[in-house]
Amino acid sequence: MAMLIRNGRIVTAVDDYAADILVDKGRICTIGEHLTVGGDVEVHNANGLLVFPGGVDVHTHLDSATPTAHTIDTFGSGTRAAAFGGTTTLVDFCTPVAGESTLKGLEDWHRRRESACVDVGAHMTLLDADQGTLEDMKTLIRSEGVSSFKLFMAYPGALMLDDGALFKAMRVAGANGAMTCVHAENGAVIDVLVQEAVAQGLKAPRYHALTRPPIMEGEATHRAIRLAELAATPLYIVHLSAAQALAAVTEARDRGIAVHAETCPHYLFLNAEEYARPGFEAAKYVMTPPLREDGHQQQLWRGLKTDDLQVVSTDHCPFCFNEQPYGLQFSKQQGSDSFSRIPNGAPGVETRMSLVYDGAVVKHGMSVNRFVEITATAPAKLFGLFPKKGTIAVGSDGDLVLFDPAERWTIRATEHHSRVDYTLFEGREVTGRVKKVFVRGQCIVDGTRWLGREGMGQYLRRGESGRA
Ligand code: URP
Ligand code: ZN
Ligand code: ZN
Repeated sequence: MAMLIRNGRIVTAVDDYAADILVDKGRICTIGEHLTVGGDVEVHNANGLLVFPGGVDVHTHLDSATPTAHTIDTFGSGTRAAAFGGTTTLVDFCTPVAGESTLKGLEDWHRRRESACVDVGAHMTLLDADQGTLEDMKTLIRSEGVSSFKLFMAYPGALMLDDGALFKAMRVAGANGAMTCVHAENGAVIDVLVQEAVAQGLKAPRYHALTRPPIMEGEATHRAIRLAELAATPLYIVHLSAAQALAAVTEARDRGIAVHAETCPHYLFLNAEEYARPGFEAAKYVMTPPLREDGHQQQLWRGLKTDDLQVVSTDHCPFCFNEQPYGLQFSKQQGSDSFSRIPNGAPGVETRMSLVYDGAVVKHGMSVNRFVEITATAPAKLFGLFPKKGTIAVGSDGDLVLFDPAERWTIRATEHHSRVDYTLFEGREVTGRVKKVFVRGQCIVDGTRWLGREGMGQYLRRGESGRA
């Protein structure tokens, strides 16, 4: 059925105007003033509301195994949560099991992905840069629409690649239209600090942050940039948290190097004070990189304003705080006797759009166009999804969000749709709320009502990445 949004204020990364939008067969077919349609068209009144392109979150870990834990959201629950928060496209991290090929990893990921309610693409995590893996990268790019690869500079013995392997993978990505996404922390040094802390009996959650100093994020970011420069590949720094890392990105961009970076809402709105929470409560905030001291946040906002940071994504990597009802495998409680065993990661997919609108537009005076750019358009462009996703234009998918810019509301985990049992932002008041959400023209969220269904999300074969 065709669908018309009437009287909205359409906001893209570059436009801001009042018009109607007609969506037919899943795609936007007409944008104009006072469109007339027949009685067979479903009409939604957007009077007083902003109309955004559906949010694009390019950093999630749904139904994903780590060496000791498993994220609690399935693709069904995680994408439903995303939709309630105004995000209609995800690019999720596929991490193969050690010893298995990336192609097998993607096959398994596709089975899990079948329950998705919104459209989903995949990045591939590389666990090595052996000849077979480098060959498979080309197949993934050309035949499977996977045009970005995650490389870890942290977690030695599990995920970390040495500099030679990073360089080899970057070279193949660069020569074949793909981008490498790097987790930039000096894993070898951090490992020394972690072992020393544990040996001294310093095991509370706050030592997670104290053993991952920002200077080691800065060092690794600088190294990743230099390797990417030599390998002639576009680079994307994931979950950037530290001023030192941003300084390295800024310096490289000023030299014209194709380096891009994202930060996440938790780094923009929270700081290391959370680790002073009593008892094990601070484990909720154990993610990598950790929350930083105050000064870093100002730099991140500076980066978003000057385009040294291009994207805000969530790194939604949810583990329950409590062991019940899902079991220890899905819970932070695994690390109750030592921070080194707390599963790293935190939820966020449902709160990104409102938090960033409130922070960027309401509190930091950024334009509403820039809000759309950092939450939808830039990630779509960087990861080969534009203009199908990330904008409102004739021919683009009818992924749309009706947003009330004036509604004040309070974030509560009990009102969320993720299976995780907490939010990092409990009790935080924000201005700006998602009212309706459409995926390819179908209304899937209407206020608090869920109208979507598991399995309606499509797989996104992406074009080249890193060419924005
Ligand atoms: O703590 C985090 N960020 N967990 C997710 C995995 C990653 O490094 O992105
Ligand atoms: Zn990471
Ligand atoms: Zn992540």
